[in-house]
Amino acid sequence: MTNATPSLPEVQLDQIDLSDMEFWAGPREVREATFKKLRDTDGLIHFEERVLEDAPFPPGAGYYALTRHEDIWAVSRNAKVFCSGQGSNIGDLPQEMNEFFGSMISMDDPKHYRLRSIVSKGFTPKEITRLHQLVVDKAVEIIGRIEEQFPEKSCDFVEHVAAALPLEIICDMMGIPSTDYAQIFKWTNTILGVGDPDFVTSYDDLMAHALEMFTYAQALGEDRRANPQDDITSVMMNAEVDGEQLTPQEFGSFFILLVVAGNETTRNSITHGMLALTQHPEQRKLLYSDFDTHSKNAMEEIVRWATPVIHFRRTATEDTEVNGFPIKQGEKVVMFYNSGNRDERVFENPYTFDITRDLQPTQIGFGAGGPHFCLGANLARVEMSVMFDEIRKRVPNMRMTGEPAYLQSNFINGIKHLQCSWD
Ligand code: HEM
Repeated sequence: MTNATPSLPEVQLDQIDLSDMEFWAGPREVREATFKKLRDTDGLIHFEERVLEDAPFPPGAGYYALTRHEDIWAVSRNAKVFCSGQGSNIGDLPQEMNEFFGSMISMDDPKHYRLRSIVSKGFTPKEITRLHQLVVDKAVEIIGRIEEQFPEKSCDFVEHVAAALPLEIICDMMGIPSTDYAQIFKWTNTILGVGDPDFVTSYDDLMAHALEMFTYAQALGEDRRANPQDDITSVMMNAEVDGEQLTPQEFGSFFILLVVAGNETTRNSITHGMLALTQHPEQRKLLYSDFDTHSKNAMEEIVRWATPVIHFRRTATEDTEVNGFPIKQGEKVVMFYNSGNRDERVFENPYTFDITRDLQPTQIGFGAGGPHFCLGANLARVEMSVMFDEIRKRVPNMRMTGEPAYLQSNFINGIKHLQCSWD
């Protein structure tokens, strides 16, 4: 194992601006050094906000950055005092828009509880076991497809391997016909690509795409309520909690959350994982030599290493404190999971990629616990391990051969393209 404690560049506290998109487009070592500096600084630092250029809403009052594992852990598990209902991303939107875009991730109890109880029916251990075979079939199909399509044994890993699996699984789960997959993929890219010039360029574009996806989902939900089939949309549309069913509008918003949350995150975990295994061949050898022994810890380490979701926000519902630092009612705190997952107070050698790392202390890539903990974590773990297992069996020397083209985002740690090769 490489004991990679990097020599990080020197960063001055007064030059840090987490709201500057240039920072998120900048070198990764500067990002690491910046968060280390923030973790090592007593108290909490407050940042001003910026918004999309043509957004119709003014910037909010700013936020405190939570960068230490302990602080993120405490806030995430105290949903009564640190709520999600006022928004789960940094900017403020009107309440209806929060729910339209965020669905349950931007709700508090009792609304959140009701919605989560219904949609959880699609994610029970029984459902995940049922999906396992489907995931295996898709992974076999994807690797078969690249072998056939690319006789030169080289392709864009993101597009042809990592993105295909989660997208097709969610679409399949939800009962979406394969002819619509490409359209769904385009919509999710635009919604999560906010800030990256390759994707959305205007606020209007973002809204237009979200609305199209919402309308598509509503129609799907209505259809499955009337004609239930063997898919999760039918399970959700016909489930009842306290005598109430999901409305087509609620389903529309949940669909946006699910497709967006389930696609980009898993895709990026698989891509960052493959990149890490290429850069740490001894770890790849270890994983591939005894996959069943190492798979569980390795997948967790890949999620820690990648931290595909960079942040979520909470808002204080009363005057309170985080680790002794006062926070006033209405103030925002942003949990930077990427930083918590590199916290040297919690993880030994946090900059070392170690697939045998203990499962305790817990990495926080799926959230740090509490009511919003990732609903799809078990599905994501299955997708990742099945994909790596298939790569190991069929193209064991598959490796990344290009430089990653990173997504410019303060929300998703994304890789847009990355060339891979195999023999
Ligand atoms: C490696 C892949 C994934 C990562 C890193 C990830 C990460 C996260 C994070 C950080 C949260 C917020 C947790 C919190 O606020 O406490 C979350 C919530 C959520 N995730 Fe995931 N996720 C992944 C895969 C998936 C998949 C595959 C699905 C579904 C198919 C999914 C569905 C959701 C949903 C519905 C929520 C909102 C839960 C709620 O508000 O109650 N995620 N995820």
